[in-house]
Amino acid sequence: MLLKIIAMLKLLVFAFLLTVTRVSSRNDPKNDPRNNGDLALWIDEKQVKMFSGMSMEIYAIVNGNVLPYILDPNFEKYLPVIPSEVSYVNFTWKAGMKKYYYNFDRLQSFDESILEAPVISIKTKGRVPKRPKEFSILLPCLGNSSGVAPFGIGLLIESRKGKPLNGTPLRLKLRKECSQRNPDPECDKKCANQGWCNNEKICQCSEGYMGQYCQTALCYPQCMNGGNCTSPGICSCPPGFQGRHCEGGICGEKCLNGGKCVQKDTCECSKGYYGPHCEYSKCIIPCLNGGKCRGINKCRCPQGFRGDHCEIGKAKPHRSSCKLACKHGTCVDNTCVCDPGWYGRLCHHMTM
Ligand SMILES: *[C@@H]1O[C@H](CO)[C@@H](O)[C@H](O)[C@H]1NC(C)=O
Ligand SMILES: *[C@@H]1O[C@H](CO)[C@@H](O)[C@H](O)[C@H]1NC(C)=O
Ligand SMILES: *[C@@H]1O[C@H](CO)[C@@H](O)[C@H](O)[C@H]1NC(C)=O
Repeated sequence: MLLKIIAMLKLLVFAFLLTVTRVSSRNDPKNDPRNNGDLALWIDEKQVKMFSGMSMEIYAIVNGNVLPYILDPNFEKYLPVIPSEVSYVNFTWKAGMKKYYYNFDRLQSFDESILEAPVISIKTKGRVPKRPKEFSILLPCLGNSSGVAPFGIGLLIESRKGKPLNGTPLRLKLRKECSQRNPDPECDKKCANQGWCNNEKICQCSEGYMGQYCQTALCYPQCMNGGNCTSPGICSCPPGFQGRHCEGGICGEKCLNGGKCVQKDTCECSKGYYGPHCEYSKCIIPCLNGGKCRGINKCRCPQGFRGDHCEIGKAKPHRSSCKLACKHGTCVDNTCVCDPGWYGRLCHHMTM
């Protein structure tokens, strides 16, 4: 059981770690966000260690700034479900020298048949304490139904009344697993996916599964675009999508000019092109002398040329050239420099 919590939280921590390790340089006390004079919000070391076995802090706000990864619209998508064994998360914060006022303006369960609204251990509105102080967010499962419930937390922070801190109100949507792990005398027969029945007749799941009978597989990051997690880390994708997490689309018509297929029948065009299949150039005057359109009437010119349309300059005899023609790129010093969306020696492979 404990190992499973640790595994889950390692993933959670990992998601944070990607961007945060830079911030919490432990050796230099000047770099420690707890010591500088401005607002900070973090999950403290003791708490993280309890979950993950790692001695580290996880920061959301440092030096009066909400960290950019919190604001990434994809942030929530990649977080794993908070497992049933974890029923609260402790945070620490401090305002430092300035005055900050907070308001937890949303504490919401999106599935009240499973999870009650999150509860905060402090008043929902008030002043952020000057010195580091802890509070908890409790995630109360109803107790008699199992499942995964999305919940939302909203946090507004104002430096002066009416002046919100950049990036707030924070709107986080997370997911919590609740499982009614009642003893079941038939546990032996029912625990699925290599789960085993313990002395209390409750299923203990093997890594990668959860639920009363370990019937639910865990995929991290979550399957996207309506894919189903069929076994740990394996998504089954709906028609039109592909990729490990169903993140990629299948485009009926090819995306042109270096565009990428990002969703079912949706191209993401490279700079300089637009249209459903990136078929239109933003350069009304076509780029001359082998230039590539890079923006509205802006061309990227090959060596020796300049001007918005690469009209200035004259072709020098090529000192070097690529033996074989570059398929989707420009020959520079004997090497093909590929257009966006292409790679390979001759730029003949398309990136997904
Ligand atoms: C979390 O906070 C609660 C009080 O809100 C405290 O009782 C508990 O010990 C804290 N847990 C950790 C791991 O810090
Ligand atoms: C258990 O679930 C039923 C509905 O299925 C509900 O009416 C009841 O209040 C719940 N009991 C507890 C203790 O949560
Ligand atoms: C995912 O599971 C749901 C419910 O079982 C089903 O309706 C849906 O078709 C499945 N989607 C895929 C892509 O397998």
